[in-house]
Amino acid sequence: MHDLLELAISTADVAGVMLIEKRPADLRVAHTKSSPTDVVTEMDQAAEKLIIERIRASRPGDAFLGEEGGAAAGATGVRWIIDPIDGTVNYLYGLPDWAVSIAAEVDGEIVAGVVAVPTRGELYTAARGEGAYLLHRDGSTEQLRCNADVPLERALIATGFGYSAQRRARQAEVLLGVLPRVRDIRRAGSAAVDLCSVAAGRVDGYFERGPQEWDIAAGGLIVQEAGGAIGGLHGKPASAEMTISAGPGLYERLHDLLAPLNPERD
Ligand code: IPD
Ligand code: CA
Repeated sequence: MHDLLELAISTADVAGVMLIEKRPADLRVAHTKSSPTDVVTEMDQAAEKLIIERIRASRPGDAFLGEEGGAAAGATGVRWIIDPIDGTVNYLYGLPDWAVSIAAEVDGEIVAGVVAVPTRGELYTAARGEGAYLLHRDGSTEQLRCNADVPLERALIATGFGYSAQRRARQAEVLLGVLPRVRDIRRAGSAAVDLCSVAAGRVDGYFERGPQEWDIAAGGLIVQEAGGAIGGLHGKPASAEMTISAGPGLYERLHDLLAPLNPERD
């Protein structure tokens, strides 16, 4: 587990440096996926290639799942779940909140997770059972703890929106039921960063319909190791249907606020 974490840390670091140093001044959209606003840049593709090649050089038999299509079967029981840039729209526009997310799964369980936020010089890490940490560029480290027992009306809640117009219309309806009941809403633009913000107590909770496995694999472990919870509605695991995350106490309150709003519809 420690070797996997070390490899994830060094690889996320190298990819983050590459994404900052090699970002073309005239960065353009290479192609779109689910809708015209669901963009991929040449840098998403280059970063995923770098990450997979670097991990494969040390661990040739492992499996991969990458957002930009880098899927490969393996023979070791280890699978790497990779989002080379989570928050691609922020990266495209030059906004700071985008991340490199790398998780290592062993026999179906995530055991190590790293979310690097290069523009902020921050690297969030967790190994299962060993806590979550924020490593700063200056070499300092802090252990992460979610905020506990936050009442709903004082909770700062992060969320995100999908790429299809129809889904966004439903998400706006759900937000009508949430916004009057909480302190405020934040839409930072990266699900991985949102989960790390829950872990660091920079927001109190997060929910979103739509995040994929690569968006939440590393951040989900980081939140849990910071004392928080992550899941779906009615005891289901976190998934693209619904992902909810918060510290103890608030998690249940946020779930119970969302459930009657039927947030899994499109
Ligand atoms: C997106 C970001 C965004 C979230 C979307 C994700 P991408 O990932 O995490 O915050 O709202 O659901 O798809 O497309 O930038 O990798
Ligand atoms: Ca993503």
